[in-house]
Amino acid sequence: MTGATDSNVANKPIGYIFLVGFMGSGKSHWGKIWAAAHNIDFVDLDEAVEKTAGTTVASMFENMGEDYFRMLEAKKLRNLPPNKSCIVACGGGTPCFFDNMQWMNEHGITIFLSATSQEILSRVLEEKEKRPLIKKLNESELLFFIEQKLKERDGFYTQANHTLATADLNDQSIEPIISTIHS
Ligand code: S3P
Repeated sequence: MTGATDSNVANKPIGYIFLVGFMGSGKSHWGKIWAAAHNIDFVDLDEAVEKTAGTTVASMFENMGEDYFRMLEAKKLRNLPPNKSCIVACGGGTPCFFDNMQWMNEHGITIFLSATSQEILSRVLEEKEKRPLIKKLNESELLFFIEQKLKERDGFYTQANHTLATADLNDQSIEPIISTIHS
């Protein structure tokens, strides 16, 4: 018999899938849902860095500086647990430092969750406090910051293998991409 059955396709390893995109674009939210649907591991890179550092991202920015956090983040990315199938939700800045984006493209599949500045604004407004880059900004400063940073970061995010618009996401959105890994 030739061709894969549904069940052996489902059991095939898919390697690392890295979700990239601006803060508030839904990387952790959808990453968890898609990983659970495929019964595979999920890693939130910010949380993994926090676990190693023994402190929060916000406190690292405040007490050790952003460079220190970026160094730990790049190190953690390269030292993810060896895994045959795992979805990794990156931090919003992960692809923009060192050669992280290139490294992810060489070691897995990258998906850019693309959101407009207005979508991002409404999502991050309520949880500004835990995000050190934005916690001191008022609403109009925040929108300006998001627009500027999106422009700066676009060249990194668009190096991803796939782009999904966050407004259209659902629990099936990753299926066509997983199928391309298996084909
Ligand atoms: C950052 C985004 C955050 C976190 C850190 C810096 C950024 O992650 O890594 O606060 O530079 O955009 P989320 O995108 O998960 O909020």
